[in-house]
Amino acid sequence: MPQKDAWADKDFADRWDGKNHFRDNPDREEQLDLIVSLLADGCGDDSLILDLGSGSGRVEELIFERIPGARVAGVDSSPSMLDIARKRLATFGNRFIPVVGGMGDLAALELPTGPYAFAISVQALHEVSHEEKKKIMADVYALLEPGGVFFVLDRVAFEGEALSGAYRSVWDRLNRKAGIKEGTKEGMSYEEYLKTYREKDDHVASLEDQLSWLRGAGFRASCLYLHYNRALFAARRPAGG
Ligand SMILES: C[S@@+](CC[C@H](N)C(=O)[O-])C[C@H]1O[C@@H](n2cnc3c(N)ncnc32)[C@H](O)[C@@H]1O
Repeated sequence: MPQKDAWADKDFADRWDGKNHFRDNPDREEQLDLIVSLLADGCGDDSLILDLGSGSGRVEELIFERIPGARVAGVDSSPSMLDIARKRLATFGNRFIPVVGGMGDLAALELPTGPYAFAISVQALHEVSHEEKKKIMADVYALLEPGGVFFVLDRVAFEGEALSGAYRSVWDRLNRKAGIKEGTKEGMSYEEYLKTYREKDDHVASLEDQLSWLRGAGFRASCLYLHYNRALFAARRPAGG
């Protein structure tokens, strides 16, 4: 029976934060480096970034180390995850602004006043229904300043059952490239990945739908990175929009 991740549970949150994040996503370092590079190239010293599903602050740590002065309003519905983030980011003072609440109703939250030049969401939009995703995209569009950009990094629909030979090949290569050996504590076989994926009760959308919803919200959007079932979308609110 597929299960939802228990984000509100303190033990679950501690386990998630402490787990080996490369085991089910061997390219995570590359993905995070990409999103932080995109932010670093566009942010001014006092930029305010909105992060939806900011979790335990691992992405913020990279942002703060790389972009001096940038601040992040991190929205997360799990107080346990935000507690870990507060501790992790304590040395960065008030640059992290935690906001407890659901990303499905951003208007109901006490967000810091913008303007937001950037919004991001990393491995989190699959947590909400497709209808909520569309609403979130429209809400982010409204919160961003004209010309502002929303970067979404998340899973896309997995076709590993239908295209198992091709997916297995990419999975094995990803692990080889990351220096991870199958069968070791760090590694996960393709069969284990399939099982893990089947057991998760998530709302993963196809690449085409995610692009089309971003465009439907008014963004100019494209997919900048796609590897295995992970994608990074860039969506820009037009300057005159
Ligand atoms: C897989 S974690 C990703 C955390 C972080 N972005 C990262 O990549 O390290 C997903 C996060 O989304 C949060 N989340 C799940 N549903 C949410 C919702 N409806 N509103 C806000 N946050 C949510 C969870 O509490 C969790 O912290």
